[in-house]
Amino acid sequence: MDALLIHGGQTLAGEVRISGAKNAALPILTASLLTADTLELSNVPHLKDISTMLALLGHMGVRATPGAGNHVTLDGAAIPNREAPYEMVKTMRAAILVLGPTLARFGEARVSLPGGCAIGSRPVDLHIKGLQAMGAEIVIEHGYIHAKATRLKGAHIAMDVVTVTGTENLMMAAALADGTTVLANAAREPEVVDLAKCLIAMGAKIEGAGSGVITIQGVPELHGAAHRVMPDRIETGTFLVAAAMSGGKIRATHAQPDTLVSVMGKLADAGAHVTRGDDWIEVESDGVLNAVDVRTAPHPAFPTDMQAQFMAMNCIASGAASVTETIFENRFMHVQELRRLGANIEVSGHTALVRGVPQLDGAIVMATDLRASACLVLAGLVARGETKIERIYHLDRGYERIEEKLTQLGARIERVH
Ligand code: EPZ
Repeated sequence: MDALLIHGGQTLAGEVRISGAKNAALPILTASLLTADTLELSNVPHLKDISTMLALLGHMGVRATPGAGNHVTLDGAAIPNREAPYEMVKTMRAAILVLGPTLARFGEARVSLPGGCAIGSRPVDLHIKGLQAMGAEIVIEHGYIHAKATRLKGAHIAMDVVTVTGTENLMMAAALADGTTVLANAAREPEVVDLAKCLIAMGAKIEGAGSGVITIQGVPELHGAAHRVMPDRIETGTFLVAAAMSGGKIRATHAQPDTLVSVMGKLADAGAHVTRGDDWIEVESDGVLNAVDVRTAPHPAFPTDMQAQFMAMNCIASGAASVTETIFENRFMHVQELRRLGANIEVSGHTALVRGVPQLDGAIVMATDLRASACLVLAGLVARGETKIERIYHLDRGYERIEEKLTQLGARIERVH
């Protein structure tokens, strides 16, 4: 099991190149199931979750050819296997995204129900309900979703809860359905917009992506296309918080500032100096920060995937602030680990009250989920002495070469086996 060793106290400065967005690339990879032509993707990040998805698609029949750098060519001409087995789904919940496209193109799909997850129960009932509204017959037995449909029909679907992958699954299914589908209370995340852009390039007729109502006019088939995956807004936000906490100056390049308006606003409220261009964001700070309240909610509100990182920042800011998590029921597992570093945090229900302390102290801590591990890296960067973070396989799922990028910025961090 790998671990990260961090010697805290370095001021971080320089430029960091942002990678492609994991949560845009994952649904876009499954779009290869929607066409017999090839899908040429660029800016695909090299991450554990991406290779897991490529392995699953390969298992189904998609031929993936990695190209130079972050290119991947996907050929979904022959998909003899319409099943996503438990062994592959249990390591990555996003595997549920093969359900919509496979059912829409082949009229059948068998996908393992994703198991529970550390941050919450994360059901997929809205994915299933939406497909049933489009005429799918779905039976759940032995932990698998068996879906059948001669041809999906367009439907007007009001989603009870805003769900990102639910919106993405149904948007892909509707692209090949017979007639018009309206997704009301749809997720507005930038990753949904990026998927829609890719589907439209493949010939799909989609309007309203990025708003709460998405209208999809089904077409008989989709053709190949080339698409560049959008920059990862959560990786960007994580590095910007690192700059604010360490008292340095970091420019995130190849970024997409308009996807980070709420995060940039909160960093400015904390006292960091935030500037931006078309494709870069820079944060400069003297390390003296005010604690800022955050409350997570669907885009364009403050993103739940940045909650743990801002909790780390509040741990060393002056004053007290509340961190409220409204999306997931158990996304505070980083609190116990931050306390081991000396943080002063009290949790009641969905709200954590963080009282800033002058200094954190290095310790051995354990990563519990992807964004919690990022938060522990941030805390380790400012803690006195050495911090060792165990179980960093969580981190590798969502951050490309994070210790290399941080080392280039002046951090003292190394991976130990
Ligand atoms: C996506 O997960 C992201 N993952 C998550 O990022 C992100 O935290 C989350 O959206 C919220 O922004 C990918 O895009 C691959 P949801 P997803 O469905 O789609 C409830 C990361 O760190 N819900 O939007 O699984 C659910 O329980 C990951 O990169 C239902 O009740 O999240 C949750 O409370 C972590 N029924 C809420 O909706 C359903 O059918 C939002 O979940 C679906 C969801």
